[in-house]
Amino acid sequence: MSTGINHIDEAAVKEHGVKLGNTANVQNNSVADVAIGVMIAAAKRFKEGVADIESGEWKFGTNQTLGQDIAGSTVGIVGLGSIGQAIVRRLKGFDVARFLYTGRSDKPEAISLGAERVSLGKLLKESDYVMLGCPFTPETKHLINKEALNKMKRSAVLVNYARGDIVDQEALYEALKEKRIFAAGLDVVTPEPLPKDHPLISLPNCFIVPHLGSSTLTTRNKMAIIAANNVLLALDGKPMQCPIN
Ligand SMILES: *[C@@H]1O[C@H](CO)[C@@H](O)[C@H](O)[C@H]1NC(C)=O
Ligand SMILES: *[C@@H]1O[C@H](CO)[C@@H](O)[C@H](O)[C@H]1NC(C)=O
Repeated sequence: MSTGINHIDEAAVKEHGVKLGNTANVQNNSVADVAIGVMIAAAKRFKEGVADIESGEWKFGTNQTLGQDIAGSTVGIVGLGSIGQAIVRRLKGFDVARFLYTGRSDKPEAISLGAERVSLGKLLKESDYVMLGCPFTPETKHLINKEALNKMKRSAVLVNYARGDIVDQEALYEALKEKRIFAAGLDVVTPEPLPKDHPLISLPNCFIVPHLGSSTLTTRNKMAIIAANNVLLALDGKPMQCPIN
C-alpha cells in the first residue's frame, strides 16, 4: 500500500515470479499538502517558535525569529512527478518568481506549469527551496550529500517528501548545524521511526514529521481499495490495477 517499492526485494520477487503492484496516482495531492506544510514550517521557523511558547519564552522584537519568504523565491523540484506537479499547482498562489526542475527527461506538463528544466547543480545553486520528489533508487541514494548541500544558498530550505535515503543525513546535520543552509523540512527520514535521540531532532532548524504524506482517511481508503483490487485481479490472473512490471 505505497507508491515507492524501495522496501521490496525486487530480485527475490522476480526470481519467485511474485506479482507486484503499488498504489500509485492517488496520494499526489495529500503528499503535496504535507510537503508545503513542512516547507512553510521550516522556512518560518515554527519549531523554534513553538518551543519558545512551550518553555514560556515567547520572544518579541522586530528582529526575532526571522524566516524566509516564499513570494519572489525560486523553487526547485527534483523529480517533477505527480506530487511535484501538485506542489507547483499549489505554489502558483504564493507568488513564486521561478520554478525549476531536474530529472532524466523533459516533462510535458512543465510547459503549462511554467517550470524550467535545469541541471541538478544549477537547481541547487539557484533555488531558495529545494524540494525532493524523486524515487529512491541506487542512483538517487545520497543524491543530496555534502557536495550538493555546499552548492545550496545559505538562505535555502531543503524539503524531502520522497525517501529518507535520498539525503545523506550526516551531511545534512552538519550543514544545518553550521547554518550552511537555513533549514530543512522532512516528512521522510532514515530510519523510520527515527530514534528520539537522533541528532537531527535536536536541531532547531530541522522540522520533522513522521511520514504523514498520504495519511488522510480519504487517501488511505483510496490506497486500500487499489491494493485490494490488485490482489483480487492478480488472483484472477488479470493485470493488476497498478502493476509494477
Ligand atoms: C492525483 O491524485 C488524484 C486523486 O487524489 C487523481 O485523481 C489524479 O489522477 C492524480 N494525478 C496524477 C497525475 O497522478
Ligand atoms: C538582527 O539580526 C541579524 C541576523 O541575525 C543580525 O545580523 C543583526 O545584527 C540584528 N540586528 C539587531 C538590531 O539586533
